[in-house]
Amino acid sequence: MTEHRFGGDWTRDKLDRFGNYLAPFTTALKNTGFELIYMDAFAGSGEITLASDAAEQDIELFQDEVSAGDDLTEGSVVRALRTDPPFARYYFIEKDRHRASALQRIVQSYPHLSTTILIEDANVAIPRLCEEINWRTSRAVLFLDPYGMQMNWSTIEAVAKTGKIDTWLLLPYASAINRMLRRDGKLPESWEAKLNTFFGTDEWKNRCYRSSPQFELDFVDESPEVQKMWNLEDILSFCIVRLDSVFEYVYPEPKVLRTKDGHELFALCFACGNKAGARVAKKIVDHIMRMG
Ligand SMILES: C[S@@+](CC[C@H](N)C(=O)[O-])C[C@H]1O[C@@H](n2cnc3c(N)ncnc32)[C@H](O)[C@@H]1O
Repeated sequence: MTEHRFGGDWTRDKLDRFGNYLAPFTTALKNTGFELIYMDAFAGSGEITLASDAAEQDIELFQDEVSAGDDLTEGSVVRALRTDPPFARYYFIEKDRHRASALQRIVQSYPHLSTTILIEDANVAIPRLCEEINWRTSRAVLFLDPYGMQMNWSTIEAVAKTGKIDTWLLLPYASAINRMLRRDGKLPESWEAKLNTFFGTDEWKNRCYRSSPQFELDFVDESPEVQKMWNLEDILSFCIVRLDSVFEYVYPEPKVLRTKDGHELFALCFACGNKAGARVAKKIVDHIMRMG
């Protein structure tokens, strides 16, 4: 079995919204002379099986997939390869060898397109591509679609620094970050390190936690040392503030993706590095984010 299993309706929603950006992007920039590049940093295997609702409840903090499901859909790679007008170059990054092989088989059906599959860590490959590509003559769309906390802030910084990449990213603010920010503030060291790498700062600690006032000295042993101040909305706001600190434009109302029974999981965000392109991008993204 080569296809990839995860998600449910929210996965389809995510892919539909993201996919709907591609043709308007290549159409808008078709006659500008720029080389148009597509980059998929957590590319997957090309096709995915959508998980059942039961599996949606069970997302682990760092896992790459969820078992169970029966509904096959095209992943981001296939949607990108089918974009009309096409991109001039496609980069697919997938660190899992088996998924990369499945991807290779799919890509072979598009011999007329210029495609490169990189089997490596996206946090290494994306900053390198950002360095190598000539951004004076190129523009790109990037999809950062990790399942959990696999994205490093240094990758986001490298992308934003080019000033030329329209970036869609999936933020696991509820499915992972909120669960890592334990109520008692007693985070394992590895989680603290992961959050620092993800946010590119340790500011989250001071903002999310406050020392508890100890009113009852008798019960001092029972009172928690810190109080968690952040709710889901605060976590998402902090993520947007961080993106705003490096990108030219960040769409202010990311699409919240939920389970069928309404539990928040991820936010689909859009950030734009290009001042000149931000106005057109905003128009397209506005339409996409508001789609029913
Ligand atoms: C949610 S899936 C991507 C789904 C894909 N966008 C699609 O629509 O089919 C995340 C993928 O990222 C891969 N992955 C996880 N960590 C990675 C890393 N550090 N670098 C590259 N790929 C990674 C996993 O193997 C997995 O296939």
